Amino acid sequence: MKIIVEKDYEKMSSKAASLISEAIQKKPDLILGLATGSTPIGTYEELIRMHKEEGLDFSKVTTFNLDEYYGLSPEDDQSYRYFMENTLFKHINIKKENTYVPDGLAKDPNAYGKEYDEKIQKQGGIDIQILGIGRNGHIAFNEPDDELILSTHLTGLTKDTIDANSRFFDSIDKVPTKAITMGLGTIMKAKKIILLANGKNKTEIMGELLKQDKVTTNLPASLLLLHPDVTVIMDEEAAELYKKNL
Ligand code: PGA
Repeated sequence: MKIIVEKDYEKMSSKAASLISEAIQKKPDLILGLATGSTPIGTYEELIRMHKEEGLDFSKVTTFNLDEYYGLSPEDDQSYRYFMENTLFKHINIKKENTYVPDGLAKDPNAYGKEYDEKIQKQGGIDIQILGIGRNGHIAFNEPDDELILSTHLTGLTKDTIDANSRFFDSIDKVPTKAITMGLGTIMKAKKIILLANGKNKTEIMGELLKQDKVTTNLPASLLLLHPDVTVIMDEEAAELYKKNL
């Protein structure tokens, strides 16, 4: 695991964006795994700037998102498809048909999940997967549990995640309680993973994760310790406990 600590959120975001941009320049038809949430917004803003000012070309890039709330349509302004359209896709020259976000209305979500995984593999697999981390250690919506499911699947959200995500909704009872998420197997198949973390509410979990002394399904992100090519990029705040433990 390569660990990079940047001064602040802006620097963390531009570091992540420059890794992605270098990869697109090397492989214009890059398969990029994307995340939602607050963490990657700055990275997306920097990619948009690079597209507009430096001509970074997304015309051959394909993207696969990690997850989607179950029960929300793509037009719902709380859906992750809606978030991706507004935060990134509509500002760059990516082809809509090359952007995949799990379908929150899938009738048979587990069969759908299998198809989603097959689609990823048929495209050649994810070259770079961007990840955030939940303060409970989840990645995508793989919540701490006795067992973790490998493939893309329907899952329930924990109370902690519902609490954390309620900041985007009018009230906590509006937060969906289920989601379709890539599983740990899907995520671990990505050739390269970039895990981003910023802010004080990630200090504790990053300290715990980066002790690097065990893997446990109770901290789903710890499985990343087994992956051969993970780069962690944090800001100073998220890195506080990690640095203390060094
Ligand atoms: P955040 O969410 O980027 O909004 O902190 C990360 C996550 O829950 O995976």
